[in-house]
Amino acid sequence: MTYTSSTVTVPDVAAVPRHVAIIMDGNGRWATERRLPRVAGHTRGVDAVRATVESCALRGVEFVTLFAFSSENWRRPTEEVSFLMRLFVSALEREIGKLHANGIRLRVVGDTSMFNDRIRALIQRAETKTARNTRLTLTIAANYGGRWDIMQATKTLIAQSLETGVPARVDDESFAQHLAMAYAPEPDLFIRTGGEQRISNFLLWQLAYTEFYFTDTYWPDFDAAALDRAIASYGGRERRFGRTSAQVESQSQKADTLSC
Ligand code: IPE
Ligand code: IPE
Ligand code: MG
Repeated sequence: MTYTSSTVTVPDVAAVPRHVAIIMDGNGRWATERRLPRVAGHTRGVDAVRATVESCALRGVEFVTLFAFSSENWRRPTEEVSFLMRLFVSALEREIGKLHANGIRLRVVGDTSMFNDRIRALIQRAETKTARNTRLTLTIAANYGGRWDIMQATKTLIAQSLETGVPARVDDESFAQHLAMAYAPEPDLFIRTGGEQRISNFLLWQLAYTEFYFTDTYWPDFDAAALDRAIASYGGRERRFGRTSAQVESQSQKADTLSC
């Protein structure tokens, strides 16, 4: 599909979000409350990833994007960072066959140049193996930052201009073609677990008109019922994209008449 921008065209809206983006937060506190080392929360978090991806696929969600490691998470203690890298590798190695068998396409976005060769090769293999799957696209944001993404798109445009000698076109949609997730529609629903209410440098550009849902549930406890609560909350929102309520109402009546 080609990327369409919510600030250029009003997107089609359905009761079930097409794209769900999640900040999986609260692993450390989940573990600490159980007197376990923080990393035990990360290990349990992988189970919640598996369950959430399966539940989303069953509910007809087409894109799931998970924030696994931010460009600022390098600031954590070295041991926690290395544990997260090892966990990423082992989870990917273990799960990729199953993801593929279930028709899931895997993509990884973020500055992967910071990862070692082994991780980069593994990502490449997993993306290639699942490239033709169409049931659901699972994107893992690893060493991702919304600011990094906007800057890397800008650098690409500048490089193109210098190469061709013609200033690159800069408008909403042509700019977004260079963002890391140009293959996906903008998220309909953003979920953050763990109680904090902030974006933490996630998809800054793409969240322009996304519906936000915050829950105190720690990520390792996030399950199908918690996902259903988020989707139900989303289903009750009126997405106006700048229009009035009356305009939204009359458009949905028109759509109902057409479908009769
Ligand atoms: C989210 O859980 C996982 C990552 C950022 C990798 P945290 O590790 O941030 O858990 P809390 O917020 O400290 O509880
Ligand atoms: C955001 O969580 C990043 C991920 C979940 C990967 P953080 O725990 O790093 O965010 P802050 O530091 O609380 O904003
Ligand atoms: Mg956190």
